[in-house]
Amino acid sequence: MDNIQKALFAKEVKQGLRANPKTLSSKWFYDEIGDQLFVKIMNMPEYYLTDAEFEIFSTKSAELIEAFGVKDQYFELIELGAGDGTKTIELLKALRFHDFAYRPIDISINAIENLEARVKREVPEVKVKGAQGEYFTALSSLKSNHPKVILFMGSNLGNMLDDQANSFLKALAEVMNAGDKLLLGLDLIKAEELVLPAYNDAQGYTAAFNLNLLTRMNNELGANFEVDSFDHKPKYDYDKGLALSFLESKKKQTVQIEYLNESFDFEAGEKIFMEVSRKYDDSSIKAISDNTDLKLTNRIYDSKHWFTDLIFEKQ
Ligand code: AVJ
Repeated sequence: MDNIQKALFAKEVKQGLRANPKTLSSKWFYDEIGDQLFVKIMNMPEYYLTDAEFEIFSTKSAELIEAFGVKDQYFELIELGAGDGTKTIELLKALRFHDFAYRPIDISINAIENLEARVKREVPEVKVKGAQGEYFTALSSLKSNHPKVILFMGSNLGNMLDDQANSFLKALAEVMNAGDKLLLGLDLIKAEELVLPAYNDAQGYTAAFNLNLLTRMNNELGANFEVDSFDHKPKYDYDKGLALSFLESKKKQTVQIEYLNESFDFEAGEKIFMEVSRKYDDSSIKAISDNTDLKLTNRIYDSKHWFTDLIFEKQ
């Protein structure tokens, strides 16, 4: 982490831990250990999101391509937060004889380099050139007049509350040209028996993923969190479609953060709100896409209707 990033991290940590209730942002989960834990989460049986969207990409790629409406013209396939590309490779295989370039964007340079190598190995016909960075910085460096298809998969948008997601989609629509497409992968509202285990797995990867943010503050901000004295407590509100993760302090304690030169008190049983993972239905889909210049043209589901890939066209 460079100094600018670190200062921003520290500032957000301070704001969050001074707030009532206390909160930290899941966007800071992804350091090296966090990346590794997230890969483990995606591959565990409880995390149905991966399988559901993989099924769409492997069995309905023709439908996706039809919805992209790209026909014979050259286009750019841009992916935000590409990760390891397992699902996208399925689409690339189906697109291999189309005229296009694949442009994955990820905050992790490591992820980009691995993905480029993987595409060259597994689908050598496909032109691939990745970009490392924040979504909008990387997107503006990719500005061109070629038709674009933007992929934003995995229900990544679900880490934002609806207002924030709506602002994000408005900003995204602004860098798109009329006729460009957005594929948005969203997890759907379903029973607690299915959702909760995805955020409370038997092997404890999700707990470790949340607790790792405490370790990260210890390492990068000189904090002295006793990681063992916090419990991972996920919750699911079916009516609202919200999966929420908390860390609960097992005892009354005080934590010092050297970088901030401040200390923070925790009551026994006090919770830190860590992450929202939005589950969607028609009304929340409408809420996030309202007033965006993005028109919903296709909805593609997995066979269980647990997950959807929506196609929007920029007006
Ligand atoms: C990457 C935001 C889609 O919320 O389901 C997985 C992150 N957090 N397990 C999600 C996550 C805990 C994931 N997203």
